[in-house]
Parts: sequence; structure tokens; C-alpha cells
Amino acid sequence: MAKVLVAYYSRNGHTEEMANYIAEGIRIAGCEAEVKPISEIKNEKDLQGYDAYLFGCPTYHRDMTGNMKSFLFLAEKANLEGKPGGAFGSYTHSGDAPGIIFETMEYVFKMNVTNLGSFKLKEATIGDNIKSCQDYGKVICEMCAG
Ligand SMILES: Cc1cc2nc3c(=O)[nH]c(=O)nc-3n(C[C@H](O)[C@H](O)[C@H](O)COP(=O)(O)O)c2cc1C
Repeated sequence: MAKVLVAYYSRNGHTEEMANYIAEGIRIAGCEAEVKPISEIKNEKDLQGYDAYLFGCPTYHRDMTGNMKSFLFLAEKANLEGKPGGAFGSYTHSGDAPGIIFETMEYVFKMNVTNLGSFKLKEATIGDNIKSCQDYGKVICEMCAG
């Protein structure tokens, strides 16, 4: 069974909520999902053994957070080239982080990013968008099947 890593940072729990709904979609589609805060990923070896990767981060100060930047430098060493990937996050008004992370996955890591693009939700609307979260997860699982 293909295994998808959903690695996220969340200060107030909204991006974490998205991560869990996305993981539900991955499981509904028949893949295994592991949901992990990036604080639990200590080195590039912790990124080995997965078939696909989703990285989640909220937008603060029109940017991804500092710890997510450090995490991406760690991920750079993991050789994720060709692996299916996507990025997501919660926001209130500009929602820049998922798009920037997605670009890094596409152009720097050369991952096989989903043609859905990055996935962002205004924090007040997450509860109304459980299905869109699940659908994002489903597509990543389907990409693992080729
Ligand atoms: C100091 C601060 C700065 C923020 N800057 C932005 C921003 O530039 N753009 C935006 O869309 N949301 C911004 N937000 C809102 C957060 O992205 C939003 O609350 C998000 O849902 C938090 O996700 P989390 O619960 O996973 O931490 C900011 C929030 C705070 C407290």
C-alpha cells in the first residue's frame, strides 16, 4: 500500500485540522497516511520510506514560517525528485505560504506536483470544506498509482 507523509506546522490548530481531513481523503482512496508535525522530523532519513509528500503551513506575515523554511532545507537533502507532492495551509487574507512551498517542491526538489496546485483555505471556512480537503488527499493517493 502506498504511503503518504502529511508533514505540517500549525500554531493555532487550523492547518493541523486541514492535515487530518486531507489524511482522511488519502485513506478513503486506499493509501496509508502518516500525519506528522515537522518538529518530529529531525533529519532527512525521517523523510525516507514514503511514496508521496504533502507539506502544510499557515501564512504568517505574508510568508511561510521560519521553521518551515528550515524544514525545506532538510527536505532538500532527502532527494524527493519525481515523487508526487503538494502543499496546503490555512490563512485569513493573503494565504501566500502554500503557493511558495509548492513552487519549491516543483522547481527546487523537482517533485511530480499535483496539477491541482497548492491548496489553501480561509480558517473560518475549514469546517465547510472537509470534502475539498479529502479530495486533495485522494488525488495525491491516486498519483502514487501512476
Ligand atoms: C501575527 C500574524 C500574522 C499573520 N499574517 C497573515 C498573512 O500575512 N496572511 C494571511 O493570509 N494570514 C495571516 N495570518 C493569519 C493566519 O494565517 C491564520 O490565522 C491561520 O489560519 C493560522 O493557522 P494555524 O492555526 O495553523 O496556525 C496572520 C496571523 C497572525 C497572528
